[in-house]
Amino acid sequence: MTVLYTDIRELVTNDPAHADGDPLGIISDAALVVDGGSIAWVGRRTEAPDADERVSCGDSSVIPGFVDSHSHLVFAGERSAEFAARMSGEPYGAGGIASTVAATRAADDATLLAGVQRLADELLRAGVTTFECKSGYGLTVDDEARSLRIAKAVTDETTFLGAHVVPAEFRDDRAAYIDLITGPMLQACAPHARWVDVFCDRGAFDVDEARHILTAGMAAGLDARLHAGQLGPSAGIRLAVELGAASVDHCTYATDDDVDALAGAADTTVATLLPGAEFSTRAQYPDGRRLIDAGATVALATDCNPGSSFTTSMPFCIAVAVRDMNFTPAQALWAATAGGAAALRRDDVGVLAVGRRADFVRLDAPSYLHLSYRPGVPLIRDVVTAGQHTFEKVETQS
Ligand code: NIG
Ligand code: FE
Repeated sequence: MTVLYTDIRELVTNDPAHADGDPLGIISDAALVVDGGSIAWVGRRTEAPDADERVSCGDSSVIPGFVDSHSHLVFAGERSAEFAARMSGEPYGAGGIASTVAATRAADDATLLAGVQRLADELLRAGVTTFECKSGYGLTVDDEARSLRIAKAVTDETTFLGAHVVPAEFRDDRAAYIDLITGPMLQACAPHARWVDVFCDRGAFDVDEARHILTAGMAAGLDARLHAGQLGPSAGIRLAVELGAASVDHCTYATDDDVDALAGAADTTVATLLPGAEFSTRAQYPDGRRLIDAGATVALATDCNPGSSFTTSMPFCIAVAVRDMNFTPAQALWAATAGGAAALRRDDVGVLAVGRRADFVRLDAPSYLHLSYRPGVPLIRDVVTAGQHTFEKVETQS
């Protein structure tokens, strides 16, 4: 069955062919046709073909569904007291992860699954139609494998992050924990994961350890991504480039050499910035424009986790990126859609073009600019995922 979505005041396609090379590929007074789960036609409303059904978008803006390429949704408990302490001046450190590990290990499968489903639903309501989800709060063979099985219930983009921190029981023998990660844990987790990741930063894993773990994961058939440069400058950013990782995430303390390396690897390794993490840890923001102007491919993601960034809101991340990270509104929207798709090496999402998945969002706004112009306002009106209407904002009568 075909459906014509029409009366679109502004359609962001991310297909530069529609707009003289402009990356957002905006079509004014537009329409699009969906056939099953895919886009069948995109163009000017006046040129739209007939379809079996017709849906008016009420003269609003339509954008590609957000692609959130970095989240940690499988956990129990919450750490609001730690957040409050940070807002009173305490620094953020990797150590807080241990309290979530304890709560996660103690939780049963049903509790973890319910938490993941609640956050997946929040992501959808925020306009996210594709997201990645990591393990990393289990840190035993069984708890990491079950975290990934549970993540699989909500996404195929699952990431093995047994190398989140060294758990307390291995504090005096980190080499033994790394052997566990690269041996039995990897064996148990690889069947449920697409990606392998390491938290390469102060208080977590160093660059040599990260290289060893990522290399083992890649030998087991997983593709690499990496956390690096969140808490201080780190050779981890160049390690990600060296290994051909799909993405290196945080990059808060990227040096000029790191920026050059990322620019040289723009077709391979995406620099993923996580505004929620700097916001929630009151850290310095990275400069998105510096990376983009150098030629790097940049994504924005939520980093949703209970410690350093407990948000599922891509519109919030876009607003912060525009206000405090030197992105233009156009660069931020691209990074949250096509950039996220590049960070997951997906060419079926992030762009509204013929043959791509019909994942899009109707905004309660005439232009995507409102995502940062009206921060904190719920602008997600409808979400369509693979051609299915998956979310509709309920209007309250006044
Ligand atoms: O991406 N950096 C590592 N992991 C998370 C934080 C996890 C936590 O504090 O619980 C992050 O920010
Ligand atoms: Fe993270």
